[in-house]
Amino acid sequence: MVRQEVAGGVAVLTLANPPVNALGAAMRAALDAAFAQAIADDSVRAIVLAAEGRVFVGGADITEFGKPQQPPSLPDVLERLDASPKPVVAAIGGAALGGGLELALACHGRVAAPAAKLGLPEIKLGIIPGAGGTQRLPRLIGPDAAFAMMLTGEPASAERAAALGIVDAVVLGDLVAAARTRALELADSGALPRVRDRSDTLTPDAQKAFEARAAEAVKRDPDATNVHALVRAARAGLERDFDAAVAVERAEFRTLVEDPRSKALRYAFFAEREAARVPGLPKDTPRRPIHTAAVIGAGTMGGGIAMCFSNAGIPVTVIETEEGALTRGLDRVKGLYAGSAKRGSITEAQRDARIGRITGAIGLENASHFEIVIEAAFEDMGVKREIFSRLDAIAKPGAILATNTSYLDVNAIAAVTSRPQDVLGLHFFSPANVMRLVEVVRAEKTAPDVLATALDVAKRLNKLPVTVGVCFGFVGNRMLERRSRAGERLLLEGALPHAVDAAVTGFGFKMGPFAMGDLAGLDIGWRSRKDFGGRAPVADSLAEMGRFGQKTGRGFYLYPDGARTGSRDPEVEALIGRVAAEHGVTHRSFSADEIVARLMYPMVNEGARILEEGIAARPSDIDTIWINGYNWPAWRGGPMHWADTVGLKTIAEALSRFAAETGDDSQEPAPLLRRLAAEGGRFADWTAA
Ligand code: 3HC
Repeated sequence: MVRQEVAGGVAVLTLANPPVNALGAAMRAALDAAFAQAIADDSVRAIVLAAEGRVFVGGADITEFGKPQQPPSLPDVLERLDASPKPVVAAIGGAALGGGLELALACHGRVAAPAAKLGLPEIKLGIIPGAGGTQRLPRLIGPDAAFAMMLTGEPASAERAAALGIVDAVVLGDLVAAARTRALELADSGALPRVRDRSDTLTPDAQKAFEARAAEAVKRDPDATNVHALVRAARAGLERDFDAAVAVERAEFRTLVEDPRSKALRYAFFAEREAARVPGLPKDTPRRPIHTAAVIGAGTMGGGIAMCFSNAGIPVTVIETEEGALTRGLDRVKGLYAGSAKRGSITEAQRDARIGRITGAIGLENASHFEIVIEAAFEDMGVKREIFSRLDAIAKPGAILATNTSYLDVNAIAAVTSRPQDVLGLHFFSPANVMRLVEVVRAEKTAPDVLATALDVAKRLNKLPVTVGVCFGFVGNRMLERRSRAGERLLLEGALPHAVDAAVTGFGFKMGPFAMGDLAGLDIGWRSRKDFGGRAPVADSLAEMGRFGQKTGRGFYLYPDGARTGSRDPEVEALIGRVAAEHGVTHRSFSADEIVARLMYPMVNEGARILEEGIAARPSDIDTIWINGYNWPAWRGGPMHWADTVGLKTIAEALSRFAAETGDDSQEPAPLLRRLAAEGGRFADWTAA
């Protein structure tokens, strides 16, 4: 697990525990032993710590959290490393994250390759650094800069890390050789620079800046237990000696590991990775080569998808039916890139290269030579079938033909071609160039290599693909429809839009369903209900009045003078009263908890049906979809994980009650939910039969 080679007075310890050299118990013990051996070896004057593979160290082993700790602990190992009488230099070739960076910070020198990334992402897991990170990083780069890094959890590039003073140098050539040279320099000079001994960085100005940033962070996210803990730990470093402050950090860390928020975030971390494993799709499934792509349709979705390909370095052609639409679409894309360059999120050279990789063409016949064609035309079965039947005649043999549909039957689309094995759905979320989630819709006849290739392509585009089966609305929109329906019902029963939205934001969503509807445009749901059936009496009445939401200045709320946040409108509240009366529904009042239950339990119920039908492979895939595509608060772990925390019996009983109260039988618990509730089971333990 740790290789040791001694040459020229330097012991090079190489961590070799793929894929990420996580610092689990065995690795900690091996590291500890290797250090002890190097320190005891008289021929060794200095030590280099290096790692095999793309990642230096991905952190503590997250799977061990919440389990009894096996010695030696990481803080203990780092303590001994820090106290080493021989200098230790870290050679950081890839990501040094969490415990990985803490390990490097306990060394006496650090050099990094240009590809290295250094950060303390613990905040994203609901915890804080627990092996000295909250103490050593501030001492190394100052309390404000360190707090800023720990607060976002975003890693710094090697270049940035050097500028901040986290690493001594960025090395272009042989990293281990450079680390050896540095280690011998330190040995020769007799210096043992320990980060723990630094205090020159703890200036009054930096402390003041830290306090200001801390106050703002706590104000922005008052419920985030770990943000409070981070502030306390970082502040302890300014008020106490190193060892006492490390003890504060450790105590905070231990408490947070048991926090349900952290449990949910850790669950979400593994859920995301689990989604990559598709049942029945072996890892070694062959892939089709993809070098070029075509996108059909230059609308918002088509343009956004084209940007994803271009951003990933894949040349892409956008195909339209007429010049005007193409020019408008490409101009919009150029505008978005220009905006990114102006904000500084990409360089001007990147902007030009990205724009340069997108070309336009008129006429579907131009789709003949691409390895993947993604149709992003109008959401209409007739239009899509027409395009696919023409594509069947045009596209080269073996090309992957994907439809970017949010609802439609991909089997029916595939059926118009003579090559249904090459067809699948790629449901991007809007804005496609920003949102990470892609529902990859595996149709009945989709070939394994087509699915495997599509998943790879999505990953190349920096997306998070989750494989789903064919049904109306797939996983995300099918469950969303349940929430929308329940929301309408709540309005009729007397919960006003602002009360519903407040309950939902109180639950942790960034936006409530009605504010969201206004932002997306109420005409969208209205048109789709016209096409696909279904009624939302309040939303439809508003749309019929031309109240489409923000874009018309009026929807569920009023948006005077282009306001981005809506204000209550008595007219809408009166309208809701009239519609309720027409439907013979009497008003009552609802607590925020009741509103949440009314909205979310039916979604959980639909999730159970989705599992029963095999549309999603596992509950965690549903959760990954909701966290990444619909802004479900990650610290609640997604609807299925959350349901387990509420208790399935509670949910099943409530659903039966809702069904009785509303007369809507579809609210009755699904058989799977009913069974798990009766057995005292959890979704977490469920596996497909
Ligand atoms: N612990 C346990 N397993 C880990 C892990 C960790 N810290 N980091 C990654 N893994 C596992 C993943 O689950 C995955 O397993 P699988 O192949 O069985 O699904 C495998 O390693 C590869 O991970 P990725 O698919 O994410 O690989 P990438 O190459 O895409 O990314 C990475 C590598 C950037 C290191 C990414 O894995 C990552 O961000 N890891 C987590 C980083 C992190 O949060 N570290 C802090 C941990 S908490 C901590 O250190 C506490 C300390 O302060 C005491």
